[in-house]
Amino acid sequence: MNNFWSKIPRPILALAPMAGITDSAFRQICRKHGADVTYSEMASVSALFYKPAKTLELVRFNKKERPYVVQLFGNKPEHFAVATKIITEKVKPDGIDINFGCPAKKVFKHGSGCALMPQIELAREIISAVCDNTKLPVSIKIRAGVSESSALGSPRAELSDARNISALEFIEKTKDLPYSAVMVHGRTYEGGFSGNVDWEIISQIKKIIPEKIVLGNGGITTPEGALEILQKYPNIDGLGIARGAWGKPYLFEQIKKYAHTVGAVHEPPLQKQPPLPPDFSKIKKIMIDHAELIFKDKKSFGLFEIRKHLVWYIKGFPGAAELRQKLVRAESVEEIKEILK
Ligand SMILES: Cc1cc2nc3c(=O)[nH]c(=O)nc-3n(C[C@H](O)[C@H](O)[C@H](O)COP(=O)(O)O)c2cc1C
Repeated sequence: MNNFWSKIPRPILALAPMAGITDSAFRQICRKHGADVTYSEMASVSALFYKPAKTLELVRFNKKERPYVVQLFGNKPEHFAVATKIITEKVKPDGIDINFGCPAKKVFKHGSGCALMPQIELAREIISAVCDNTKLPVSIKIRAGVSESSALGSPRAELSDARNISALEFIEKTKDLPYSAVMVHGRTYEGGFSGNVDWEIISQIKKIIPEKIVLGNGGITTPEGALEILQKYPNIDGLGIARGAWGKPYLFEQIKKYAHTVGAVHEPPLQKQPPLPPDFSKIKKIMIDHAELIFKDKKSFGLFEIRKHLVWYIKGFPGAAELRQKLVRAESVEEIKEILK
């Protein structure tokens, strides 16, 4: 197995998977600005099983995004097995990830994503189905836990074997399986996307599986925040960054600069001042680069999709409100360039 995870210097900084956001253009931009690994948007194994064309289009990638991991979600081991073969043979990414962390209703109520965490036997079958059908390194993405209280009145209550589970128990009960890496979103199912991030549990997980890669995820939005975590929990192999990269794909390189020497997170950072954000002229270049990439990849539909990114890029800069009005109406890359002049 060509396990790219073991070859990346620590701390590993990954662009975490985000449906509707981590498309090829955004992955390229983040990789260009310091992300060590990129994840696809989550792809349905059942869609790949029954009608793969559209989903194959969703996970298509450019070699500049490597190392690139395709994330799969679903709840049927046999669909995971077939989807893994298809992805391995047709897409040829560097790794395959399994989504055990998504709390979104439409995923959860079908017993996928985070709803699988309490169903250990099924989760084990799914991990085995993926590992048995590829030579690529397999990773999993989990949450800090799913607690009993949320089962009442939530879609989880519909699951026959709904019960409490913490990420520690999940890892204890799956650690014998041959997956290579785990990204732990340190919030519970109930914590959604804004609750407390439990970094202790992430650090404890690494102690249970020292031979596997463990990335911590949740709430990293600044180089200072990243460094604080990496220094406080030096056994964690790296970080997954999701919303922190919105409008700031350069956050990855900022963290690296701030950490100064990758791999030396056990020592105090040599650079005492946090790096300044790039000036606006640099950000404009990134915006244009991003717009060109997305247009190349998705044509005019891409221009519709770039709008949210453009708004994130300018957030907080003087005159952002006025600029936003113009940018969201732009209908070509040329027009975006003209506005940014
Ligand atoms: C818009 C959006 C889409 C997401 N899509 C996925 C997904 O497809 N797969 C997944 O495992 N997590 C997904 N996540 C969760 C993120 O990967 C990440 O775990 C979460 O946002 C916490 O990280 P953050 O605090 O850095 O944003 C998504 C999050 C957001 C905000």
